[in-house]
Amino acid sequence: MGGLIPAAVLIADALTGQLGANPIQRATLQTGLLTLALLVLSLACTPLRLLTGWTWPARIRKTLGLLAFGYAALHFLIYLLDHSFDLTLMTEDVLERPFITAGFTGLLLLVPLALTSTPRAVKRLGFQRWTRLHQLAYVAVSLGALHYYWGVKKDHTQPLIYAAVIAVLFAVRLLKRPPARGAGRSRPARGD
Ligand code: HEM
Repeated sequence: MGGLIPAAVLIADALTGQLGANPIQRATLQTGLLTLALLVLSLACTPLRLLTGWTWPARIRKTLGLLAFGYAALHFLIYLLDHSFDLTLMTEDVLERPFITAGFTGLLLLVPLALTSTPRAVKRLGFQRWTRLHQLAYVAVSLGALHYYWGVKKDHTQPLIYAAVIAVLFAVRLLKRPPARGAGRSRPARGD
């Protein structure tokens, strides 16, 4: 529920004209940053569990991932609004501007992840296939960081910090990966 507060604040600011001289740009930037931050937080849950043994990060991971998807959809909706919902213009943008190509691909990759976020989907796909599919989250977040890097005009410090955090999370996950099944060791916990 708390994850919806930024959306409520954004809507309230938009309705009361407090988004500054360029409200669409401000809303795009805010939702973009929220998407990326939530994606990174959702990806931090498993490495945190692997490093600490805590179980609570695994319990909030799905909520964080779905919130990230919700903000990405809002971010995209605001972009479409800014382009008068002109799908031809959008397609040209996706095909011609690498910055938009990266963001759009990242959003597309989040769709199957959101659609398969239910326990029923895990059951239907089988745990291993579901796990493999959800590794797409790493590609999506990397594309989000690249999109941010390419979108920023001057100071690239923040996008580089995001990229470094993603790289560390990925490395922890690889290094602390639970042993494969069939090697006489235990099955990974759900959500790995
Ligand atoms: C995983 C999906 C996405 C993520 C994580 C993401 C993230 C971001 C971030 C972090 C920013 C920069 C915020 C800032 O400079 O403070 C941004 C800006 C922007 N994004 Fe995305 N984005 C995604 C998808 C998309 C999509 C699908 C589109 C449109 C097709 C899009 C269009 C834009 C535009 C137009 C800007 C603003 C550039 C500017 O005015 O300087 N993004 N996004």
